[in-house]
Amino acid sequence: MIGKICGTGSYVPPHIMDNDDLSRIVDTNDAWIRERTGIARRHIIEDETTSYMAGQAALRAVEQSGIDPKEIELILVATSSSETVFPCAACEVQKMIGAVNAAGFDMNAACTGFVLAFNTAQAYISAGLYRTILVIGADSMSNMVDWTDRGTCILFGDGAGAAILQAEEGEPCIMAAHSDGIKGPALTGLSRHRKGREPGVEDKESYIHMDGQGVFKFAVRKVPEIVEEVLEKAGMEIDDIDYFILHQANRRIIEAVAKRLHTDISRFPMNLEEYANTSAATVPILLDEMNRNNKFSKGQKLILSGFGAGLTWAACLFEW
Ligand code: COA
Repeated sequence: MIGKICGTGSYVPPHIMDNDDLSRIVDTNDAWIRERTGIARRHIIEDETTSYMAGQAALRAVEQSGIDPKEIELILVATSSSETVFPCAACEVQKMIGAVNAAGFDMNAACTGFVLAFNTAQAYISAGLYRTILVIGADSMSNMVDWTDRGTCILFGDGAGAAILQAEEGEPCIMAAHSDGIKGPALTGLSRHRKGREPGVEDKESYIHMDGQGVFKFAVRKVPEIVEEVLEKAGMEIDDIDYFILHQANRRIIEAVAKRLHTDISRFPMNLEEYANTSAATVPILLDEMNRNNKFSKGQKLILSGFGAGLTWAACLFEW
């Protein structure tokens, strides 16, 4: 059994912050950000929440799929920035879309989260446990960045993307996932510190700490490795793959991955110029954009790959 994508959706907040807007907050400029990252602007929440964005993306996926939300048996939300720890975002989405028969829970593997949730959904489907699963990646990174740190705040944006998988006869997806907790300090995000529990401990805002070059090197080494791993498991060659849908962190990372794989960059679609790094949402937002622009046709082979904090990285090879 395989989970075939029968609908996709995405949502980004309407409020846009471009590189010039950022240059009024920190010492940076449009040329530096474009050259080092490929990012021109990002969408930032005002009143929206992570769960709201997840729900909007889900509604669009449901509408496109034509299914009744009551058919959805499981909702998985990949997020590391939900405003509420509980109820989980998946239960909020369930309420918003009327998926009254679904179970739901959240998964946190930072920017790798959507690909891991997608793999989890595929495993449930191939094990015969569920037939219809809604998988979402949603993050509000603007709540987590330190807006005084020019090394990180320029990189991130907010958004959500969703895909609905339905069981069909067929070969299961080829999946791989890895973690390296020892290298975790290269990219950390703190949650809001407990207030009032210990005398003298201040309420501390959440923020991201990053060794930019360390994360860059990790990504350009590990993503080609995991792509080769799933290709080998599938008995396929690099040229058998139509599109590599990678986590949208930095244009230079994606270009370096394509080069290391000796593959044409045209098979690595990108949209980070518009949205920046929306963490778990980058892969499903890009999937949805391509789907709505009719870029996919039946039988095409895709590899999804995410990487990020943990450190974590994952991939999935499947047929559209
Ligand atoms: N604007 C202008 N200058 C900046 C800047 C900014 N926003 N951020 C850093 N600089 C400066 C640095 O202070 C440094 O100045 P110096 O040479 O005078 O010391 C110079 O630019 C180079 O900084 P460096 O950190 O070496 O740049 P870089 O080429 O490594 O690019 C990143 C920085 C963050 C863009 C890059 O390392 C990166 O993208 N890493 C991966 C991060 C990522 O994707 N994380 C999420 C993964 S899920």
